[in-house]
Amino acid sequence: MTSTAAIAIARDPGSLATVLAPWRESGCKIAFVPTMGALHDGHLSLIQEAQARADRVVVSVFVNPRQFGPNEDFGTYPRTEDEDVAKIARAEGDVVYLPSVEVMYPAGYQTSINVGDVPVPLDGASRPGFFDGIATVVTKLFNQVKPDLAVFGEKDFQQLLVIRRLVTDLNLPIEIIGAPIIREADGLAMSSRNRYLSPEERQIAGHLNQIMRSTLARLAEGEPLDDVLSGARDDLEACGLAPIDYFELRRIPDLSAVSIARLSATELGSVRLFAAVMLGRTRLIDNMGFNVPR
Ligand code: PAF
Repeated sequence: MTSTAAIAIARDPGSLATVLAPWRESGCKIAFVPTMGALHDGHLSLIQEAQARADRVVVSVFVNPRQFGPNEDFGTYPRTEDEDVAKIARAEGDVVYLPSVEVMYPAGYQTSINVGDVPVPLDGASRPGFFDGIATVVTKLFNQVKPDLAVFGEKDFQQLLVIRRLVTDLNLPIEIIGAPIIREADGLAMSSRNRYLSPEERQIAGHLNQIMRSTLARLAEGEPLDDVLSGARDDLEACGLAPIDYFELRRIPDLSAVSIARLSATELGSVRLFAAVMLGRTRLIDNMGFNVPR
């Protein structure tokens, strides 16, 4: 275990346990924020959410090879360890957990978690094995950190649903908190992958948010679902936000398809719009619910 200013750094489960033991013994509530690093303000908002609910906050930074497909960006995913540690220290996190691939998946490693049907649509269909890889690493991290609660961003809404299912199904005694998406001034959802965008692409990327918001506004007015969605898909393509992987409404929490002609006012609270589009080499994802008072 090492320390940078006031922040402890652990690189394996043993040294993490050494840091956590006195806190646990003195009855501290421990929150966990798992990340893949390249931290931005969205991640920092998760740390703040964790701080508001617990006495100590553990942040992990681990680029998990098991959630990348063979043609995805595991090799080029941004790795900015020193900057990440400095940001977590400034945000007053208490410990950064930085395991290596060898620590997480030592020689002979075999086991993986299969998460069943929740992930089938959307990213589950587009990225085979993605959610099993996430469930596997998150289960391992949960076992190493043993937090009382863990915070996940709604930016990856389907991931949040998968994790909720996982802790229920495996009786993991961890409260799962979903935290709202943090957006840039033009509405683009913050993401570590936004740094792949060229300046021209970055200008275009903000249109995704505008098109999603106008789609929800038209649906809330009772316009026909098929017309609104196909008009929005045309708009995305016209902006260069293509190919479109998916742009569809799904019911929460089971992600079942919405196959009705028009949404009624009572249905607005139970559905969400999900989008994944390519912009050059970058895959942008976003999701949005109707602004319905609860
Ligand atoms: O959301 C992420 O950054 C990752 O999927 C997670 C939860 C850290 C697992 O690798």
